[in-house]
Amino acid sequence: MNKTIVFASTNEGKIREVKEMLEPMGYTILSLKDLNLEVTHPEDAETFEGNSKIKAEDIASKCDYPVLSDDSGLMIDALDGFPGVHSARWMEGHSYDEKNQVLIDMLKDKPNKKASYVTVITYLDKKRGIEKCFLGTNNGEIASTIDPNPINGFGYDPVFYSYDLKKTFSQATPEEKDACSHRGRAIKDVAKFLSTLED
Ligand code: IMP
Repeated sequence: MNKTIVFASTNEGKIREVKEMLEPMGYTILSLKDLNLEVTHPEDAETFEGNSKIKAEDIASKCDYPVLSDDSGLMIDALDGFPGVHSARWMEGHSYDEKNQVLIDMLKDKPNKKASYVTVITYLDKKRGIEKCFLGTNNGEIASTIDPNPINGFGYDPVFYSYDLKKTFSQATPEEKDACSHRGRAIKDVAKFLSTLED
């Protein structure tokens, strides 16, 4: 079996997480940067699954390797799932500190601060005719302040208080986050699935 997989992302945080979980199983994970590729198809689906498949199919059409792609985001209950599939793009050009502060302000008068990180990871292996999606979630809530001393993480992690870890993701070690994060959970299912494929 070809043990090389392309992870269709340029996000350093996500690439590190996926490598940490699949390389111990003997996989070589190549990023888009490694292959000088980019997703050019607009991510215009209204679901994580739709956007995840767009990325996987775009990159699979440009290389010969199996592809993993993820589309993920933060869903806030009291905001009807916002920012959801728009997590990366709303308030474009602004820092995550600014976006995180806006989210805190939007929730100021709302008693329900519950939120979830959600990801859908697609594994696409055109040679074997496999396209399979894996869902991962982590439940928590939006903190009332931005973590002033984040030690790890990225994006919304300084305001995402995880119920599993009982602290914000920005205070978790990479190992702690991988063990329960949305992506960690989905990747574990990807790993289980990959281990069932014959060489
Ligand atoms: P994507 O790269 O199109 O999937 O966009 C994901 C968006 O959700 C980006 O804005 C990320 O910052 C955010 N996001 C997804 N997973 C995480 C995470 O584990 N921590 C922090 N932000 C995340």
